[in-house]
Amino acid sequence: MSVTFERRLTRDWDDPGVIAIDGYRAKGGYEALKNALTKEPAAIIDTVKASGLRGRGGAGFPAGVKWSFVPTTTGKPTYVVVNFDESEPGTCNNRELVDRDPHRLLEGTAIAALAIGCRTAFIYVRGEYLAQSLVLGTAIGEAYEAGFLGTGIAGSDVDLDIVLHRGAGAYICGEETALLNSLEGFRGQPRLRPPFPAVEGLYASPTVINNVETLMSVPDIVLRGPEWFRELGTEKSPGTKLFTISGKVERPGNYELPLGTPLRVLLEDVAGGVLGGRSLKAWTPGGSSTPLLTADHIDTPLDYESVAAAGSLLGTGAVMVLDDTDCVVDAAQRMTRFYANESCGKCTPCREGTWWAERVLGRIAEGYGHPEDLPVMRDMGKHIMFRAFCALADGAAAVIDSSLKHFSEEFEEHVQLGRCPLQVEHEEVAV
Ligand SMILES: Cc1cc2nc3c(=O)[nH]c(=O)nc-3n(C[C@H](O)[C@H](O)[C@H](O)COP(=O)(O)O)c2cc1C
Repeated sequence: MSVTFERRLTRDWDDPGVIAIDGYRAKGGYEALKNALTKEPAAIIDTVKASGLRGRGGAGFPAGVKWSFVPTTTGKPTYVVVNFDESEPGTCNNRELVDRDPHRLLEGTAIAALAIGCRTAFIYVRGEYLAQSLVLGTAIGEAYEAGFLGTGIAGSDVDLDIVLHRGAGAYICGEETALLNSLEGFRGQPRLRPPFPAVEGLYASPTVINNVETLMSVPDIVLRGPEWFRELGTEKSPGTKLFTISGKVERPGNYELPLGTPLRVLLEDVAGGVLGGRSLKAWTPGGSSTPLLTADHIDTPLDYESVAAAGSLLGTGAVMVLDDTDCVVDAAQRMTRFYANESCGKCTPCREGTWWAERVLGRIAEGYGHPEDLPVMRDMGKHIMFRAFCALADGAAAVIDSSLKHFSEEFEEHVQLGRCPLQVEHEEVAV
């Protein structure tokens, strides 16, 4: 099975000219913004709602519905905040989108701003993305000079500023409320919800926070219409998505595909199959915080509903591939180490739970595990980390729970044999 369609979000990637504003405008750039300026804010929101565009940052919440939650009669300013923290392991689609087409992000952000009456928008960039900050800084400068930002954008009576803010490199600052704290100059730790940011966000004002890919999908929706957007994808997960595939795969990278494309097509037809022709053992559908799936799930359509039905989450669409030589216990330990390092420390279940989980997984991986470690790990996921303050710990629990669910024998063998069964098998083959 293969997939043929015209690339949409990435259609201009082969033309480096679009990085500069003249090249972007030559391809119709900023026409959607001009079009949006002729519409009432409610009409923009209705268009985005009708498209069914779902947030690409992980949760898949409908973008238009989120925008409609913003109260516009509070007398407070409203804000749009672009979440460009992109720290989910395995995920790098936002980075390439900005590298190759930065003005599309500015245009999408400006349209979102029009929709909620925002006059100052922020782009929160992951600290490590220095190159992308420079690309965006240049693009913002060009947009001001061309009159698409600043006073009276595109000849209208609407003013809009975009402020670029570089984070300091903390995974938790991708969580929307921790991001807001960080943007305000406080420690990047999550806030209690409710109130949700749409009602009380940045500087206690109504705020829309969207992922880079979500906002970059908006200009086409405004210009070409919701029906056009719905031509690809599924009824409940419309449009295309930029999937990142990495790990044991022949051609890792970012690939745009209609939502609902089965993993088999992404892995075998698009990305060239498992590295060296080996067999698929496990994969994440949406980064390390989404439950692992197995080779039995290779025909799962990559859309929000189908991946959930298979027992995982589409998340950021970051597929990480493990082959039959990979030790699942080792993989789970590495991923858990990431969460232990990145836990912000605000709540005890996450701060202590991730630290202990990494330790226990480490001793199982190295062959020093105790039989009672396995029920402890199961308990940890269900009863400790899911009680944490924010979803960072849910992500940490997801890899532990799912690896124990699908590969319990491999865990038990580590404990019984006092070593990794796979490692020895492959050492023997090598001899
Ligand atoms: C620990 C954690 C990290 C997150 N990191 C990101 C991130 O880097 N980028 C992102 O867009 N969303 C991230 N999210 C999701 C955001 O909280 C939020 O849902 C998202 O930015 C909303 O945008 P969307 O509706 O366009 O997807 C993270 C969530 C959690 C719990």
